[in-house]
Amino acid sequence: MNIFYNEKTKSFHMKNDIVSYQFSIEQGKYLTHNYWGKAVSDNQSKSDYRYADRSFSVIPNEIKGREFSLTTLPQEFPGDNNGDYRESALSIRYKDGSFNTALEYDSFEIIEGKPGIDGLPATYISRDNEAKTLKITLVDNSKKLEVHLFYTIFENYGVITRSTEIINNNVEAIEIEKLLSASVDFDHSNFDLVQLPGAWGREREIERDKLSRGVHKLDSKRGTTSHTYQPFMALTDPDTTEHSGEVYGMHFVYSGEFVANVEVDEYRKTRMQMGISPEHFSWKLNKGDIFQAPEVVMVYSDQGLNKMSQDLHQLYQNNLIRGEHQNKERPVLINNWEGTYFDFTEDKIENMAEEAASLGIELFVLDDGWFGKRDDDLSSLGDWFEYKAKLPNGLKALAEKIKSKGLKFGLWFEPEMISEDSDLYRNHPEWVLKAKDSAPSQGRDQFVIDYSQKEARDHVLNQMKQILDDVPIDYIKWDYNRNMSELGSQNPAIRDGEVAHRFILGLYEMLENLTSTYPHILWESCSGGGGRYDPGMLHYMPQTWTSDNTDAVARLEIQTGTSMTMPISSMGSHVSAVPNHQVNRITSLKMRGDVAMAGNLGYELDVTQMNDDDKETVRNQIDFYKENRSLIQFGTFYRIISPFDSKDSTSWMIVNQAKDEALMYFYKILDRANTLSARVKFKGLQPEFLYQVNKSESCYYGDELMNKGIYIDPVVPVEGSTEPHPIGDFRSEIIKISKVTND
Ligand code: GLA
Repeated sequence: MNIFYNEKTKSFHMKNDIVSYQFSIEQGKYLTHNYWGKAVSDNQSKSDYRYADRSFSVIPNEIKGREFSLTTLPQEFPGDNNGDYRESALSIRYKDGSFNTALEYDSFEIIEGKPGIDGLPATYISRDNEAKTLKITLVDNSKKLEVHLFYTIFENYGVITRSTEIINNNVEAIEIEKLLSASVDFDHSNFDLVQLPGAWGREREIERDKLSRGVHKLDSKRGTTSHTYQPFMALTDPDTTEHSGEVYGMHFVYSGEFVANVEVDEYRKTRMQMGISPEHFSWKLNKGDIFQAPEVVMVYSDQGLNKMSQDLHQLYQNNLIRGEHQNKERPVLINNWEGTYFDFTEDKIENMAEEAASLGIELFVLDDGWFGKRDDDLSSLGDWFEYKAKLPNGLKALAEKIKSKGLKFGLWFEPEMISEDSDLYRNHPEWVLKAKDSAPSQGRDQFVIDYSQKEARDHVLNQMKQILDDVPIDYIKWDYNRNMSELGSQNPAIRDGEVAHRFILGLYEMLENLTSTYPHILWESCSGGGGRYDPGMLHYMPQTWTSDNTDAVARLEIQTGTSMTMPISSMGSHVSAVPNHQVNRITSLKMRGDVAMAGNLGYELDVTQMNDDDKETVRNQIDFYKENRSLIQFGTFYRIISPFDSKDSTSWMIVNQAKDEALMYFYKILDRANTLSARVKFKGLQPEFLYQVNKSESCYYGDELMNKGIYIDPVVPVEGSTEPHPIGDFRSEIIKISKVTND
């Protein structure tokens, strides 16, 4: 990994063994993009911008002739209102009403390692030689603006991260209306656009479309990231598959309103951009002040989408997630939500915990309903003290009882919310997030607390700390159950255009405080399931509740889509009761377990209601999971058959680092009559290793398993028969293969 600057050609080249990124200075001042792609060795490279007189291109004032134009120049950070008619990377409104910004290259600095970003989550390094950073300074001399572009290249991944900061050196305050974090120009548009849109209960559906002319925008106007669009997009070659072909991905390390833009212009060139959404954003920057835009992870793969995912998984596992639990095996949990909803007593919880402990479960999570006077979702958010009528002996006593059974204890919070029927609302209606003179909309009968107001978030922080200081808590599920609307603050000192970003900064400040004060706590993020499952949250909370949809079949799509960007160790996946509460489907306990065991296994049902056979099945599932937990949570993940491509089956694989152990997950969805079995081909094995299948006599070499494959026919028990049958819907199998050793 290195960063080169060639003084003669005025060119920069960042490269490691996987990826190269090049740009140069054209006409003495224009930062011109040259290349992003597979690592190349040329360090002399200069811009190969095609000089030509093109009709209706405009020429910068100081340039002679008609051959150089910002209308066609591939730019690293395009300014606004200066003849580049494509989407800009920044947009500033000046005191006199003008809004043209012309950025020129000024200087560069190469930094060993990677500087942190104040107040924002970002990837980090643990060793200096793990990454190098290039800082480029651009200036607009007439407006006295300074923009810094940061590029970090990592040693081991096909990843370059980018972020931007802007300094106002003018005497007058300026209004930042847009400041993106990354912008890249490609010299063609022969791409597919891959994205992960979704909805509640259907998170991260993989969509892939041929790129066409115009601006294609994914964004959030909901205050935070949401179920609807992910802050992720990838451009691929049209023939790229999971395991071959080129991919250029961008993923935003930010939890607020974002935009991901792809524009194909009149020359069929493509501009790809990511940053804070300009839609509700405008930021006043006084003289001398700095504004910092969050980080974008840019990932390149020449081995298809799956390799892109693997690089992201590793980057996030090693360089984004932090704290005591980062590399620790995650506990098997039970959550009482689908088992009881709001309707529980101390006795009920204790009985569930007792049974859970006997099954091998390690952590009990008490979900919604333990605080204020919360018997339904109409009240009490904001009143973070125990509900005495429900828990007469108190939360602490309950936690201690649960812990005495050998379980850890976890608790649910929804700290950014306020119910109209709450003491907090009665005492502080001015803390509700709402635009001045607006009547705020309700969502799930609740309002959002204005986290841009420090007193408001500190109040919640202190309430939480009182509980955390008193009750022995090992785990917290941090929920967020509506989207924002009527963005604005009742505090006249806070400008409405700054509220969305200040909210997120406030949230991050609070999370930093809590996670560093209580480092032993395992934090799981949640937003109606996976509505805020983004790299920003992952920096503070190493786990996320993937979806409220716990149906095993629906989860095949949800977990496949989630695996596109997120590591397995972060993915909460629970076994719930049937008929399933979200889709009413009945699947076997085996199938539900086999799906949940491809993530962080948990149970979310009333275990006291299970019969002995089911309890035995659960015990076996947990034993198997614990035996393979490190492989599952921290191994290399392969998507073998995607439910988005095949309606019949899904298959995943996880291989450990030494490649001497792997799990093959195979799911048959709806059966058809009279079909022939299909072979399943493995991935990621060592070709010359001999592997034993399921501790049986069957052994195959890695190359056989990967190229020839094996038949997998999952069976189901059929009522009235002693023989299990390889027919029927919703069947699954997890096959373990282990390297045969000579001793
Ligand atoms: C959200 C979560 C659920 C549960 C409920 C409680 O919907 O996603 O898991 O915690 O809130 O109200």
